[in-house]
Amino acid sequence: PSGAGKSTLLKTLYGNYLPSSGQVIVRCEDCETDMTTASTRAISRVRRECIGYVSQFLRVIPRVSALDLVAEPLLDAGEDRETALDAAQKMLTRLNLPERLWHVAPATFSGGEQQRVNIARGLIRPMPLLLLDEPTASLDGINRQVVIDLIHEARQRGSAIVGIFHDDVARNAVADRIVPMDRP
Ligand SMILES: Nc1ncnc2c1ncn2[C@@H]1O[C@H](COP(=O)(O)OP(=O)(O)OP(=O)(O)O)[C@@H](O)[C@H]1O
Ligand SMILES: [Mg+2]
Repeated sequence: PSGAGKSTLLKTLYGNYLPSSGQVIVRCEDCETDMTTASTRAISRVRRECIGYVSQFLRVIPRVSALDLVAEPLLDAGEDRETALDAAQKMLTRLNLPERLWHVAPATFSGGEQQRVNIARGLIRPMPLLLLDEPTASLDGINRQVVIDLIHEARQRGSAIVGIFHDDVARNAVADRIVPMDRP
């Protein structure tokens, strides 16, 4: 149910929230990091190298275009600008974001358009661990299927995925383990 603590759990796995007990061990390359005790620097490294996070809502930055937002993770990883923009265009095309929106900042986009920009940004760079917070919640059937396909491709590459899904169709299409959460 809404308010059960699902986003809270993902934010805790990502090291945004500090739990009052327990550990969150993330194995990243040869290193194991406890996200509840690691230094800010170590947490940043694990996030940069190993975790892709698609938050529930896009955090829009004024004046940054959709295309630049999506290309950013590849640029941060050292990809050249042309390759990164090319990959971003492919991703946005796949997610049916109209070309007329590519150079516009997403602040005024519809909920589903913002979510598709968010997903494109979160999945553009292959990562060993993906945290997905309701990635299909405000999408129509066609785009939901695109996201399901992208998740399958990530799985095939060997990514571990923790996802939150309200909708049964998407959940059953991607999950091999389901953990129902109730309000505490
Ligand atoms: N500072 C706080 N102190 C106490 N409770 C809080 C605080 N901040 C948020 N909460 C509560 O924590 C609960 C879990 O929030 P969370 O965002 O994880 O829910 P969710 O399961 O993701 O819900 P939704 O399906 O609506 O996204 C909510 O009831 C929220 O109001
Ligand atoms: Mg939530």
